[in-house]
Amino acid sequence: MKISKVVFPVGGLGKRFFPITGAIPKEMLGIIDKPLIHYAFEEAVAAGIEEFIFVTRHGKDSIEDYFDYMFSHSEYFNIKMGSVCYVRQNEPLGLGHAVLCAKNLIGNEPFAVMSADDFISHDKSCIGEMIKFYDGSNMAASMNVPRQDVSKYGILDVDCETDRLVVAKSVDEKPSVESAKSTHAIVGRYLLSNEIFDVLSRLKPGAGGEIQLTDALLEMIPSHGLVGFKFEGKRFDCGSKEGLLSAILHVAHKSENLRHVVENFYKGES
Ligand code: G1P
Repeated sequence: MKISKVVFPVGGLGKRFFPITGAIPKEMLGIIDKPLIHYAFEEAVAAGIEEFIFVTRHGKDSIEDYFDYMFSHSEYFNIKMGSVCYVRQNEPLGLGHAVLCAKNLIGNEPFAVMSADDFISHDKSCIGEMIKFYDGSNMAASMNVPRQDVSKYGILDVDCETDRLVVAKSVDEKPSVESAKSTHAIVGRYLLSNEIFDVLSRLKPGAGGEIQLTDALLEMIPSHGLVGFKFEGKRFDCGSKEGLLSAILHVAHKSENLRHVVENFYKGES
């Protein structure tokens, strides 16, 4: 099934990176020479997505400047010219609210949502692989996490699974360790029916007082199902300092030009 539009929710406050996020959006934090949002953008382009919708807010103008620059140097960045739109999220009311802000730009078709915080390193595009498996059921990338970490994620209650897919009978946003039904966590890649906007527009705030995308996915299970996609590759939670630092080391170590810096550091030579 063709997916031509992606929503990038980039309106989050980036509190875990204060003070730098006082002036720099967390999506513009760098893994070596490219900001996080660039990696997510490249993954979307590699999936054949052609329209890019950024849900942004006050203080995030450097994302627009960055993509202006990128499109004027598209040969350098090796990225096809696409159509880019920006829509404002005036209040940080959560991921579900951010997605709802893109409603008027999506129309009557399924679409992708990608969180730049979740950096997925792989030679294939994660969202591109998801599109190959997409059959119209709502889908989220999914991975196993340590049980003590379940309260950071949306957690699937598994009905059945194959080698690549997990069919969920329920989903719970940030459950306690005791109440989590599994350790299958959602990470920030989604393929969604446009009917999710009706559900999001009447949702009450959920976990953390925010409008949660997970709550909309739960409500839609009877009508649209919910499938977790067991993606390949290594995922880094770049919304945390530990995750961003690990991603930087990972990318540096994969680079022929930079590997020696990482190796020398561990040998105590730098
Ligand atoms: C969001 C989602 C959560 C998901 C997580 C993945 O949470 O609400 O369901 O598991 O992203 O990164 P956040 O990290 O924004 O609190």
